Amino acid sequence: MKLRIINVVGARPNFMKIAPLMLEYQKHPAEFAPVLVHTGQHYDDNMSKLFFDQLHLPKPDVYLGVGSGSHAEQTGKVMVEMEKLLGAAPADLVVVVGDVNSTMAATIVAAKLCIPVAHVEAGLRSFDRTMPEEINRLVTDALADYCFTTSPDADENLRREGVPAEKIAFVGNVMIDTLLGLKEVSQQSDISRRLGLNAEFGFVTLHRPSNVDSKEILAEILSALDVVQKKLPLVFPVHPRTVNRLKQFGRWDELQRWTNLKLVEPVGYLDSLWLMANAKLVLTDSGGMQEETTVLGTPCLTIRENTERPITITEGTNTLVGTSHAKIVAEANRVLEGHGKKGRIPKFWDGKAAERIVHRLLEHRSKR
Ligand code: UD1
Repeated sequence: MKLRIINVVGARPNFMKIAPLMLEYQKHPAEFAPVLVHTGQHYDDNMSKLFFDQLHLPKPDVYLGVGSGSHAEQTGKVMVEMEKLLGAAPADLVVVVGDVNSTMAATIVAAKLCIPVAHVEAGLRSFDRTMPEEINRLVTDALADYCFTTSPDADENLRREGVPAEKIAFVGNVMIDTLLGLKEVSQQSDISRRLGLNAEFGFVTLHRPSNVDSKEILAEILSALDVVQKKLPLVFPVHPRTVNRLKQFGRWDELQRWTNLKLVEPVGYLDSLWLMANAKLVLTDSGGMQEETTVLGTPCLTIRENTERPITITEGTNTLVGTSHAKIVAEANRVLEGHGKKGRIPKFWDGKAAERIVHRLLEHRSKR
């Protein structure tokens, strides 16, 4: 009997993580019957469809269409729809990735229906429970039957929380499987021509609620970006949450007038990869970009007080700069003076993580 695997994605960072698994299942057609479920947490074309196209993801088999809402609304809607779906056609395994609301919601439903759950990118901890993703990570890992991790610190976190060793497998980083698979193609991106970029530029993204939902914190970060953009042109694809806040706080029109800041719509995966690979410096509060810049060897200044991805600091090119004007400007200057971190690529961030996961799932199948 084929293993019917429900693979759940919802938001932009999930798509890069599921893509290599969907490819890997195809190598075992007699063993797996994968189903791709998109919750619809992200729904704009440039936050979702563009990624499906560029990552060669199959069209979702099921689209739940939950859309935006408060945390409870969004989580609740995914749970209701997932319960209907799993009730109508039983599954052998639910695979969830990352730490978004859809990840946690699907996990809770599957666990209550006694369907085994595999969490890809388990064990990451920022130890900051004001971060919604930290709650999602804790709940998901507490309920998961398989915790697939990207780094040894994640294994350690899980062990400390009492997760039995047999549930934990250090397999590497599926998002890096995608990066390595598409890096060459991304070099053909014409975003540099479209944006009229010169040789040197910086790449900025901001979307964390802790940074963009507070008028004061956002103002402090913007004041630092203003200093940096006077030395280095900055490309800033603006997340819809951030657009809303910049307009609400009356900063949107002013930013359009900054001479060296290019505010653009959210970019697709290939453009993003090109920008990260070719930037002199990345300034971000994204989780995934801390890892991607580490592999690409680009200095990354993370505009947060903490990270759930410490290996990008100890081994990679990442530096935590917090949200203070002085620290952001000082660290950006260090990079511009040629003192950016070099780093090395962490173990198992080698393009084979999905292969390792599927190997484990084959073992799971044979035990049934
Ligand atoms: C979500 C994830 C976050 C991830 C991020 C990547 C949670 C708790 N957060 O945050 O971990 O890093 O995605 O982007 O799951 N919106 C649109 N179009 C869309 C999607 C969102 O306009 O396609 C707007 C809506 O106004 C929405 C807001 O963006 O209310 C926030 O979207 P939401 O999915 O709630 O959270 P993100 O900030 O995107």
